[in-house]
Amino acid sequence: MGEKFNYDIEMAKPKPGRSRWLPILLFATSLLVYLLGNFSAINTTFIEDPVDTILALLGQNYAAEWSKKYTAESHLPGTNYGLVEWTRDKFEEYGWKTTIDTYDIFVSYPESHSLSLLDEKARTIYNAPLKEDVIPEDPTTHGNDTIPTFLSYAANGNVTAQYIYANYGTVDDFKKLNELGVNITGKIAVIRYGKIFRGLKVKFAQENGAVGVLLYLDPGDDFGITPANGFKQYPHGPARQESSVQRGSVQFLGGIGAAPGDPTTPGWASKGNVSRVDPHVSIGRIPVLPISYREVTPILKRINGYGVASPDEWKGELKDFDYNIGPNPEAQLNLFSNQTFNITPLWNVYGEIEGKNKHEVIIIGNHRDAWIKGGAGDPNSGSSALIEVARALGDLKKSGYEFERTIILKSFDGEEYGLLGSTEFGELNADDLKRKVVAYINVDIAVDGKHLRIGASPLLNKLLRKVATWLPYPEGKSKTLYEHFVEDAGDRIGHLGSGSDYTVFLEHLGIPSVDLGFRPGKDDGIYHYHSNYDSYHWMSTFGDKGFVFHNLAAKYLSLLALELSKKKVFELSAGDYATSLFTYFEQLYSDVPKEWLNKEVPHHLRKQFESVSLMNEEFISKSTKNHFKLGCSDMMSWLKYSVKKPGKCPHQTTTFKDILDQTKQDLYDLSLAAVEFDAENDVLQDQYDHRSDYWPIKRYWLYLRILKRNKLLKFFERNFLYYEGLHERPWFKHMVFASGRFTGYTGQTWPGIREAVEDNDLPRAVKWLGIASKAARRASHTIRYSI
Ligand SMILES: *[C@@H]1O[C@H](CO)[C@@H](O)[C@H](O)[C@H]1NC(C)=O
Ligand SMILES: *[C@@H]1O[C@H](CO)[C@@H](O)[C@H](O)[C@H]1NC(C)=O
Ligand SMILES: *[C@@H]1O[C@H](CO)[C@@H](O)[C@H](O)[C@H]1NC(C)=O
Ligand SMILES: *[C@@H]1O[C@H](CO)[C@@H](O)[C@H](O)[C@H]1NC(C)=O
Ligand SMILES: *[C@@H]1O[C@H](CO)[C@@H](O)[C@H](O)[C@H]1NC(C)=O
Ligand SMILES: *[C@@H]1O[C@H](CO)[C@@H](O)[C@H](O)[C@H]1NC(C)=O
Ligand SMILES: *[C@@H]1O[C@H](CO)[C@@H](O)[C@H](O)[C@H]1NC(C)=O
Repeated sequence: MGEKFNYDIEMAKPKPGRSRWLPILLFATSLLVYLLGNFSAINTTFIEDPVDTILALLGQNYAAEWSKKYTAESHLPGTNYGLVEWTRDKFEEYGWKTTIDTYDIFVSYPESHSLSLLDEKARTIYNAPLKEDVIPEDPTTHGNDTIPTFLSYAANGNVTAQYIYANYGTVDDFKKLNELGVNITGKIAVIRYGKIFRGLKVKFAQENGAVGVLLYLDPGDDFGITPANGFKQYPHGPARQESSVQRGSVQFLGGIGAAPGDPTTPGWASKGNVSRVDPHVSIGRIPVLPISYREVTPILKRINGYGVASPDEWKGELKDFDYNIGPNPEAQLNLFSNQTFNITPLWNVYGEIEGKNKHEVIIIGNHRDAWIKGGAGDPNSGSSALIEVARALGDLKKSGYEFERTIILKSFDGEEYGLLGSTEFGELNADDLKRKVVAYINVDIAVDGKHLRIGASPLLNKLLRKVATWLPYPEGKSKTLYEHFVEDAGDRIGHLGSGSDYTVFLEHLGIPSVDLGFRPGKDDGIYHYHSNYDSYHWMSTFGDKGFVFHNLAAKYLSLLALELSKKKVFELSAGDYATSLFTYFEQLYSDVPKEWLNKEVPHHLRKQFESVSLMNEEFISKSTKNHFKLGCSDMMSWLKYSVKKPGKCPHQTTTFKDILDQTKQDLYDLSLAAVEFDAENDVLQDQYDHRSDYWPIKRYWLYLRILKRNKLLKFFERNFLYYEGLHERPWFKHMVFASGRFTGYTGQTWPGIREAVEDNDLPRAVKWLGIASKAARRASHTIRYSI
């Protein structure tokens, strides 16, 4: 919260003059001494190629052992300190410096719940057990320590009401219900999982007057892998177990007004004695229960023939339900949910290997908390891979290898409830992270299938593809992971939305991030997401027999971190980034309704489009400040990129198309500059690799150029932050990547512009085009005029 208010004060201070150059001079002198003395003395022929060392170390595979450990006991957020200590001890054993970082976060835990179907005389005719079946061969489903079926942050309540079927509960679905004349006020909405984040289903139901929500899994969303099609259910086959329930958080993640993390501290860290606000911007006020398709069937059957028939695309595959919307005036539900809400400690565990350069940091993160006793897929396939990464990189260091850059492992707590541990950490350390972190590598579910899927900031695309060519793919004809990715995913690296711990790094702090894992395809069984059946037994019999994909994930993650830390010039591709931004913009352009193109843009809006916001420049400059500074004053450079004007001549009218074209041109210019910048960086890396061929003075010059360029690469993505954040979602500072405000998980590009067009708001669309243009020009300018 403090961020916004500090700038005026900073702006008023005179800029340091001589004192700013003095450290640089000292630094340069000492660097010269260091380089002349030592540059060629460094013996670059390491005993072995570290890549081979990593692959040899991961030739042994302990992932199954770690998976068993993590999935043996329940570990909801803020519970099971034993696993916190175990994770720390493992990091320590492999030679990492460790920290347990505690936050005090507002959370909810289940106490009791019930759901009854009542007849016209309010007599109970059915009590839903709200339980998943015990499966004899799967130990995770037994015992008195299984976690009840519940949804975190669902409000407490005891409501009795008629109920309706509301499909996926999207904004469009509720619009449709209103069109069909269905009165949602005072009803309980029965909604199927799918399409959008569950918390937003609850948000939209509440906004439409519902007093409670039931969320269930419809077999129609199981891609045909259903008993109706002859597939047996888990544990006898790949179909979904009919009693399985998806737990989850119903925080309003990504929704308008909401922010991830502790809902009582949006934008600042929940550490110690902090001020807290009413959480109900980010969480709901109505009770909600999750339910299996077996248990919801008797309930939905009671509205057969009542109300209007739903549109065809609303029909799932429940056998006995006709998908009429209801309500049945003679059938009511009593829905009761009781949870304990309190502020409780959550624990992140960190491991660090200090590199020669402590100011350049690579983070690999995963969360540890799970909805159930198991969690073999979500998240502990990632946690097991993370321990393997700790072992490989740690043993590499023990063998004498020195990392150029610092590598940090993070085992976050509370991701499941709303990205709690990572968000609070990111908010607390925002300035430090923005200065130091080169890239954040996220792994949540490492394995719940066999198909590699990647979402990333395009800065990392090149590296992700390169490293994938070094690894063999375990199945099918002998091919590399990259060949698999090309065949299976069309070489498509997606853009990030939300739903895992990268959110704060990318979308709040502008740090290049990647999220990857092996996902299920048509040939894999149904993954029991957030259910008791996401267990070690499922993983070892269906998900990943032999844990070979866990092993592959560990190799991929280790090598990505190693490569990023190894190359003198960062392996970040500004060219890929800028050309992707241009492509996203072209898509956006083609989505703009034709009638918008000729809209006239009034003079004052055009002025706003052109003028540079000093507040934002200060914010960006603060976000990119390093411990050293080279080149001319960043504060003045904005003058140089704020001179272009859209439209033909100042007195002619400007249309929306002129503005779009100007932004497109600015992004195009950036892509040209960035591709050229990359090419020169490749040359510099090559020269660095052959530096012993050069005279010391040339070496020194090379070194300075690499320093400067690395700084630009490291901060390239920070150019695309906007200090006020997105419209009505100020926490989200990234102007290119955000989750959709009505979807929660799924990413969209250029959200500021897209949303303004969706909302038919011309001034806002022009404003956001201006923000994009200026960011593109600033980025072009800095890389064009770099040495
Ligand atoms: C040069 O390198 C050696 C060995 O790496 C180190 O011990 C020494 O301190 C270095 N000298 C300078 C001036 O940095
Ligand atoms: C560099 O190190 C390798 C392996 O330790 C050694 O074989 C080689 O002789 C060293 N080269 C120089 C120039 O010291
Ligand atoms: C849970 O089960 C274990 C093992 O059977 C038993 O030792 C323990 O007392 C039980 N706890 C409760 C609260 O019933
Ligand atoms: C919920 O409210 C109903 C009617 O008001 C009451 O009969 C019932 O006992 C309540 N349920 C619980 C679990 O408190
Ligand atoms: C919808 O139902 C509520 C609660 O029963 C009622 O107050 C309201 O008048 C109804 N609205 C319409 C348009 O019928
Ligand atoms: C916590 O903060 C409040 C308000 O800022 C203050 O009144 C209170 O004394 C603080 N408590 C502690 C234990 O620091
Ligand atoms: C909710 O659970 C708490 C803790 O078990 C209990 O004290 C409270 O009475 C329960 N509330 C209701 C309405 O049953």
